Amino acid sequence: MAIKHDSIEKNINLMAVLIVIVISIGGLIEIVPLMMGSEVNEPYEGIKPYPALRLAGRDVYVREGCYNCHSQQIRPFRSETERYGPYSVAGEFVYDRPFQFGSKRTGPDLARVGKRYSDDWHRIHLLKPQELVPDSNMPAYPWLAEAMIDPDLIQTKMRALRMLGDPYSDEEIAAAPAAVMNKTELDALIAYLQDLGTVRSAR
Ligand code: HEC
Repeated sequence: MAIKHDSIEKNINLMAVLIVIVISIGGLIEIVPLMMGSEVNEPYEGIKPYPALRLAGRDVYVREGCYNCHSQQIRPFRSETERYGPYSVAGEFVYDRPFQFGSKRTGPDLARVGKRYSDDWHRIHLLKPQELVPDSNMPAYPWLAEAMIDPDLIQTKMRALRMLGDPYSDEEIAAAPAAVMNKTELDALIAYLQDLGTVRSAR
């Protein structure tokens, strides 16, 4: 036995392979049961796929890279729940493709920013953050007020999401272009922000 161990210690390639095997077993034991659990892959009660306008706004959020400064994940610590509200649970994010968890908090977490401010507050803040928070280093996004949402694209997006499992009905898809018609990217982004995290924080 002692000799065998000796040969592992002296053969770095064998040792590397064995290390990978041991770590993978640990990883699989942690990860696989989580993937099976209903609380992570079934929607939290009341969570629905994004309605058309919010879906369009979410794409603006992703395109502008808001996640570079804002996380959307409240951790189960008192310091977080006191500040942001109930901690995030996996079932709140089942329709998020891709997730916007983020890992950087230059600005505050946004997982429950919905309804915290008025639409007008967001409008001014996104066009010029320093008007409301003089020390803010958040950039301004003035072009959002001029760019319109393209009503021709929204159905394609919803159909693609439906193929991935989002339960959009035919009626919802049919009504989508009208819902984003004549809306600016700013309108859509605010609609997205105003409902973030509200389902669970209402409980
Ligand atoms: C360079 C980093 C940075 C980027 C990029 C950024 N923000 Fe911010 N954001 C901040 C900072 C810092 C604050 C806190 C000061 C303030 O309210 O302006 C903030 C605050 C906010 C708030 C208020 C949150 C609260 O609870 O008070 C919202 C909403 C927000 N940002 C949305 C956005 C959106 C949407 C985008 C993308 C279009 C974005 N931010 C991009 C840094 C950033």
